[in-house]
Order: sequence, then structure tokens, then C-alpha cells
Amino acid sequence: MNTRKSTLTPTPGKADILLGLQWGDEGKGKIVDVLTPKYDMVARFQGGPNAGHTLEFDNQKFVLRSIPSGVFRKSGKNYIGNGVVLDPVLFAKEAAELEAGGVDLKFILGISRKLHLIMPTHRLLDAANEARKGAGKIGTTGKGIGPTYTDKVSRTGLRLGDTEQPDFAAIYASRRDNHLDALKRLNFEIPADLEAREQEWMEAVEYLKGFDIVDSEYEINGRLAQGDTLLCEGAQGTMLDVDFGSYPFVTSSNTISAGACTGLGIAPTRIANVYGIFKAYCTRVGAGPFPTELNNEIGAEIRNIGHEYGAVTGRERRCGWLDLVALKYAVTINGVTKLLMMKSDVLDGFDTIKICTAYKIDGKTTDRFPYLADNTEIKPVYEDFKGWKTPMSRINDPADFPKEFKDYIAFIEKYLGVPVALVSLGPDRSQTVML
Ligand code: GDP
Ligand code: IMO
Ligand code: MG
Repeated sequence: MNTRKSTLTPTPGKADILLGLQWGDEGKGKIVDVLTPKYDMVARFQGGPNAGHTLEFDNQKFVLRSIPSGVFRKSGKNYIGNGVVLDPVLFAKEAAELEAGGVDLKFILGISRKLHLIMPTHRLLDAANEARKGAGKIGTTGKGIGPTYTDKVSRTGLRLGDTEQPDFAAIYASRRDNHLDALKRLNFEIPADLEAREQEWMEAVEYLKGFDIVDSEYEINGRLAQGDTLLCEGAQGTMLDVDFGSYPFVTSSNTISAGACTGLGIAPTRIANVYGIFKAYCTRVGAGPFPTELNNEIGAEIRNIGHEYGAVTGRERRCGWLDLVALKYAVTINGVTKLLMMKSDVLDGFDTIKICTAYKIDGKTTDRFPYLADNTEIKPVYEDFKGWKTPMSRINDPADFPKEFKDYIAFIEKYLGVPVALVSLGPDRSQTVML
């Protein structure tokens, strides 16, 4: 690692994308908040309330789910793009909490008319699909993500703009009746309080309509054309991408950089940098393959020190060593130009730190992420590193990094062929070091 000043500077008229390279929860929310003052616009482009993005500053902690992590800086406009799926009830709760905390969302938030709404019956379908899968369940967040994207692609979705139409009630009822038919076929017992949930949902829709509902593709492109800058905030992570993740144990959207184009209506030629964010180890919530998982006391130690519990569901996150095979795959697919490394402070006390550099599958060594069949047994090949054994959370100058830590970063950079431009050494906004 050479010390070089990389300022992560936006380019006038361009968009940068910040996205997760692993299985989510890399620390996207924290870094979007750190970078926001440099940008004119921040936008979410996919996912929905399955996301939980945590920010900490001034001894306060916030978890955002559908609202972009740029809203605390008051410096620019935030958008929820067409690629997002929005639950009006959860949005209303999140927005009301922020407004109570002094964030004046009505002025700084624009919501795409074209985004799809999560209905109460989508959440029931999510539960029904999981129940039907039994032991093979995905372990979704239960927020109705899959069924809402399914309806979108099936051309039977309900968009925010539909709520502005005179026949909205009829459109809603026809969608709901389709869902009830499907639930019946799945033998799913409809909860007695469905009507109450629908009532709450309709009230939340009215609240939502009080916000700035916009043709975000026109607004964003118009501002980019005038030289404004945009930071696109990814949700989930590359290994949860519906095309390239560990299918079928994935979410239902494109979490990769290409998703920012379809999820906001911006052209690939507008993209300047792709910031790939990763933890110095790996975590995963929910089911599915995880080659470097540590089902032992080391995994438990990482979980305890890193407070690795889901921000949305409170579930234990599965923990393991850093996986460079998966990370290289993610860097390639996203076209990552700069790496941002999070939570290395969690490893401060370890004598030895391992990094996976290859897999052994059927006795053969490979550096490719395989087409994952459930029965593929992957044995990670590790390289050992001497731990730096130094408390790092108060360091703010890369010149003060211990040699072992510099070696660790240099190895990652060499393997991935991309520089690490930022290191995060604690959850607070201030615990961030630019390299
Ligand atoms: P996101 O979904 O990618 O925004 O990440 P989450 O918020 O779900 O999970 C990241 C967790 O790690 C949150 O609890 C953050 O407060 C915390 N965090 C972020 N960066 C760091 C770091 O550098 N060190 C430590 N110890 N915690 C961090
Ligand atoms: P952020 O943005 C971690 C996981 C779920 C499940 C799978 C599918 O905070 O990084 P879904 O509800 O999307 O149908 O669930 O994806 N998952 C996440 N894991 N962080 C997230 O978001 C996630 N969003 C979904 O646990 O395995
Ligand atoms: Mg999260």
C-alpha cells in the first residue's frame, strides 16, 4: 500500500455508484452519508425495505430502509428511483421518524412515479412462498420483495403513479384479488387482520402522496445535463444479485452497477466511478452458499466484535473470512474503479487473519466463482496473515497504519487489481480514513 491522496471527487455531469460487493451489510449507508456533501444528488436505484442502512454521527444512530442515506446533510436532493419497490406503511414510519428528528424530507426527497408499490398481500405471498419451500427456503426478509418484483416483470404490478389515477381503487382491488387467488392455491391462511392492514396501507398511500412524486428520470437527467453530480446508493450486495449472485439464494433485483442505469433511467455513459464496498471479512444473512463461513468460535468472535446482527430482522449474520474469489468476481461484474474497505477494526485483536485466494472443488483448484449447485462442495484455499494487533479505531492518518495492516491492504489491491481508496475503522461518520 502506497500512501496516495485519493479524494473520491465527483465529476461534473456524471454519476458515481456505491454498491456492496459481498452479501450485503458492507456499510453502504455509512459511506453514502460520508460522501454526500460532495454531491448534488443521491439516489436509491433498487431493492426496498429489505435493506437496512446504518448511519452514526453525533452519538446518534439511524437505520434507513427505503430513504437514501443522503438525507442528513441537507446539501442536495435525494431520489427514490423507479427500480426501487416501496412499502407505503414502512416508508411512512421511516419518514415520520426522520421528520420528528428534524429532517425536512418534503423539500429534499423526490420519489419516482414509476416505482412499484409493495402491497399487504405481497408480504403474505412472500411468507407463503417461503413456507412452501420448507427446508429449502431462502430466508427472505419477509418484506414482500420477491412477489412485488415478480408482479413488475409479469406486467401486473401496481405503480406509485397508479395512486394518482381516478380508477386507483379498482386497480388495487384487481391486484389484491389476484394475490388472494394465488394464496388460496398455496393453501395459505389469510390473516384475520388483512382488512386492517389494507386500511393502514391506504392511509399510508395518502401520506406518501404528500411527498414530491416526480418523473425522476427527467429530473435526474436534466440536472446531470447541467453539470450536477449524482451518487447512486446500492442496496444488498453483488452476491445477492438476481442474475449473478448465488441463485436462487438471492434477492429479486439487479444489485450490480448496471442496475443503476435501469433503476434510475441514466445511461452507462453517465457513470464515472464505481465504488465497491466490502468488509475486511464476510457476512451473510439468510440461507445459501457461503464458502468461507466459519461455524466455530472464530466466526462467533467476529459476530460479537462486529455486532453482526441484521439491521432489519435482528437475525444473526453468518460470519467468515474475506473471500477474494467472490470479491474478484464482484469487481469484474461491476467494473469497480475504487475499493472501500470496512470494519477492519473488528480484526484488530486477531493473531492470524486468513484470506481466501482460491477454491478447491472436486479436488481441483480454481479462482472462479462456480455455477453453484446446492451440492457443490467448496473448500477455500487460505493465505495466512500476521494480525496487526493494534487498536485502529482512533487512527485517522494512513501514515500511522501498522506495517501488517498495510501489507494486508497491499495484498488485496494486488489480487483485485483495484486500489483501496478508503478505510473505515468504526461505525461513526468520523472514523473514516481516505488513502
Ligand atoms: P449496509 O446495509 O451496507 O448499509 O450496512 P449495515 O448498516 O446493514 O451494516 C453495517 C454495520 O456495521 C452497521 O451496524 C454499521 O454501523 C457498522 N459499521 C459500518 N462501518 C463500520 C466500521 O468500519 N467498523 C465497525 N466496527 N462497524 C462499522
Ligand atoms: P442491505 O442493503 C443483507 C437477503 C435476505 C435473503 C435474501 C432474499 O442492508 O445490505 P429478500 O427479502 O430480498 O427477498 O431476501 O437476501 N437480503 C439481505 N442481506 N443485507 C441486505 O440489504 C439484504 N436484503 C436482502 O436475508 O437471504
Ligand atoms: Mg444492511
